[in-house]
Amino acid sequence: MSTRYAAKFASFGSFAPAKILNNFDLEKIVDTTDEWIRSRTGMFERHITTAEEAASDLAYQAASRCIESSAVRYNEIELIICATISGDHAFPSTACILHKRFGFKNIPAFDVSAGCAGFIYALDIAKTFIESGAYSNILVVGVEVLTKITNWNDRNTCVLFGDGAGATVLSRANPRDISRIIDSVICADGSQGDILFQAAGGSRKPASHATVDANEHTVYMEGNKIYKNAIRSMYASSDEVLKRNNMSVEDVDWVIPHQANLRIIEGLADKMKVPMSKVIVNIEKYGNTSSATIPLAMDEALRMRKIRRGDIILLTSFGAGLTWGSILARY
Ligand code: ACO
Repeated sequence: MSTRYAAKFASFGSFAPAKILNNFDLEKIVDTTDEWIRSRTGMFERHITTAEEAASDLAYQAASRCIESSAVRYNEIELIICATISGDHAFPSTACILHKRFGFKNIPAFDVSAGCAGFIYALDIAKTFIESGAYSNILVVGVEVLTKITNWNDRNTCVLFGDGAGATVLSRANPRDISRIIDSVICADGSQGDILFQAAGGSRKPASHATVDANEHTVYMEGNKIYKNAIRSMYASSDEVLKRNNMSVEDVDWVIPHQANLRIIEGLADKMKVPMSKVIVNIEKYGNTSSATIPLAMDEALRMRKIRRGDIILLTSFGAGLTWGSILARY
């Protein structure tokens, strides 16, 4: 597809709440062990929100850090897209709550719901807007507080999730810029929506005493089925985005995958034939922060000066829906 303009990453920022829950803390909550969690997931600790903190609080901190570290001024942001499935409210959108907190005037804002692939979906949308010429600077946020919709009696899920937020400003690339998003692929398979979902709280099953008693407002997940789909789908979209740009994994400097499980990440690297030294991993410290994992990992890797301007990066994720996708870019 020919496009008028190119989009580039102007900057990243991230934020994780101060409170930390480690595997030994979890041993006191459910029948689990540090050894089980580490060996099955690669996780050791995760940041979790307090009762007072909500998604927009984390998103605001991450987005502020992101904008402050870019050359883009607040009044140059033209659109906010927020990827989340655990926003402050069912409505209004968390993007609109951010809009208010920043004091923006007359710019649009909306949320994207694509589970853990939400940030990739939001980037794909933002990139398309920039390429069309509609906007020049878009704030894209991935934020999740899944610990607020976690069943703390279910050891299958409660050990997996952490809270966090990450943000980027996507800007129109100057013709002389080497930085640009090269291509993106997003996809879904709605037929498998029932292996990872929140049963109650929507119009299918509104909140009631019975739904609360049955814990139906928390994450239901068939981990094994998700696991099998995860590697296959992230591999497929990454392969597609590389092939259609006549590139191979050898051209990629860094792979930044969704941080759901270290074994999934290693399985993907193995299938792609990418050495783990080229894969960004921070799951040990944050757990699965869903749509926030990729911008959190990107921001950390940039601050550690692992990823540098001009590097070829491949972002890939999968999540509830099922949804998945990959972004290929020169940072
Ligand atoms: N501690 C101890 N034992 C446990 C725990 C725990 N925390 N959790 C499960 N087990 C037990 C199970 O009960 C089971 O016991 P059994 O054999 O007696 O029945 C055994 O461990 C093995 O369970 P499995 O489910 O087969 O374990 P697996 O190796 O598949 O790991 C995991 C489970 C970590 C959930 C893995 O399947 C996974 O990572 N799946 C993908 C999760 C994911 O990526 N989700 C998507 C993102 S979330 C989102 O989009 C909102």
